[in-house]
Amino acid sequence: MSLMRTKSIERSIADTEEPEFRLRKSLSALDLTVFGVGVVIGAGIFTLTGRAAHEVAGPAVVVSFVIAAIACALAAMCYAEFASTVPVSGSAYTFSYASLGELFAWIIGWDLILEMFLGASVVAQGWSAYLGVLLGQLGIPLPAAIGYGGTVDVMAIVLVIVLGALMTLGIRESMRVNLVLVGVKLFIVLFVIVAGLMFVNAANYSPFIPDAAPREAATGLMQPLLQFISGSAPMAFGVGGIFAGAALVFFAYIGFDVVATTAEETKNPQRDLPIGIIASLAICTLLYCAVALVVTGMVRFDELDPAAALANAFAFHGQTWMATVISAGAVAGLTTVVLTLLIGATRIIFAMSRDGLLPQQLAKVHPTRRTPWVISIIATVVVALVAGLTPVGVLEEMVNIGTLSAFVLVSVGVVVLRRTRPDLPRGFRVPWSPVLPILAAIICVYLMLNLTVETWLRFLIWLVIGFVVYFAYSRRHSRLGKDGDLYHNPAEPKVVGRDG
Ligand code: ALA
Repeated sequence: MSLMRTKSIERSIADTEEPEFRLRKSLSALDLTVFGVGVVIGAGIFTLTGRAAHEVAGPAVVVSFVIAAIACALAAMCYAEFASTVPVSGSAYTFSYASLGELFAWIIGWDLILEMFLGASVVAQGWSAYLGVLLGQLGIPLPAAIGYGGTVDVMAIVLVIVLGALMTLGIRESMRVNLVLVGVKLFIVLFVIVAGLMFVNAANYSPFIPDAAPREAATGLMQPLLQFISGSAPMAFGVGGIFAGAALVFFAYIGFDVVATTAEETKNPQRDLPIGIIASLAICTLLYCAVALVVTGMVRFDELDPAAALANAFAFHGQTWMATVISAGAVAGLTTVVLTLLIGATRIIFAMSRDGLLPQQLAKVHPTRRTPWVISIIATVVVALVAGLTPVGVLEEMVNIGTLSAFVLVSVGVVVLRRTRPDLPRGFRVPWSPVLPILAAIICVYLMLNLTVETWLRFLIWLVIGFVVYFAYSRRHSRLGKDGDLYHNPAEPKVVGRDG
């Protein structure tokens, strides 16, 4: 029974007031929107647009972007409802602690650690790769040994250490740097759209949905789980290809959920978190659809470069300087993704340690800077080592599965919390609950089934390690477990029977 013990919302909020664990509340709705756009627009739009159009969707990749956006919008509404009800650091982890119980919360926290730690490492390597391309274009190539693909990716390590130091210094400082870099990134994306329009040839849109064709089947562990289970042959293009494209470009949207990790640092979380989450998703959706339309109009889908379509679409039209500008934008753009994922990772671990599920000493907040400095330093070192020394760049799908599993549990959690705590004030409510949250969960599960068998196996191993840590350590050290349901916030009526 104690595996299902839930932590009351009142208790979660009261924990944030303890002096040694209190973060600085300084973020506004605009900060959060910038934060969201900063983490969402990244490697995905720069690389996956071309790959999805070239391999599975053709010009209809824009429809894939719309479908992925619908899945994300449903999940975003669930995040927004939770974040406006439980304005506590830790995002989906904290939400599921309040609704689904400690074991689910632990699993989600463990998944989010995977999403953000691995995401930060993967994108740090992507950043290093773009830096190499940019410096090459500028005629100052990096020595091969210290760049992307070298023995030690020194550039990725340097990036992570600089960003880690910034994040430890303070959330406001981080946001200021973020603002500038997000500005550069938005400029580049708008540049691609506006400049690219000049090179659009309407003939490239036909056929808009290329005829379905057998896809060079990924076999064995590399096939999607769905195909493995059903035994069906995978097809490219056609209507099915649009959905396969959606599963692929989903990665480009990952990150709006990280906004919810900053709940405790937000001045007016009930109002600002829903705005930040939904606005950043809306902005990115518009930009992505425009980029997809322009790029597939510039170059026929079968001639698009599946690796770096944006820059190469301009090179294709002889505009090499424009290609260089885009590489520079990618370098600036990926920086903010790494910074934001690092901040998100530390906030999740912060929430888990404060609850005693990880060692509580980790959650110490710096007396003047009010950042969780111990965790920040540890996270920086781990991400720097992983990004610098391992071939982690190929594990994007692991980031997807970690994120999608969190989306599923958050969607289910919304329905559960509406039943168990209908009384709570909610700054934002998902319309048509429970239909929309359930739909969100179903779509996310469908996208998960489109990930490869190999990814699922890796994910299961990660979960098994998580269970071992939980049963060996967290369960016994849980603050909630130790205190039982003795908690009573004098400011609130006593909540009976939820914590036990
Ligand atoms: N959405 C982020 C990206 O595209 C993770 O890089």
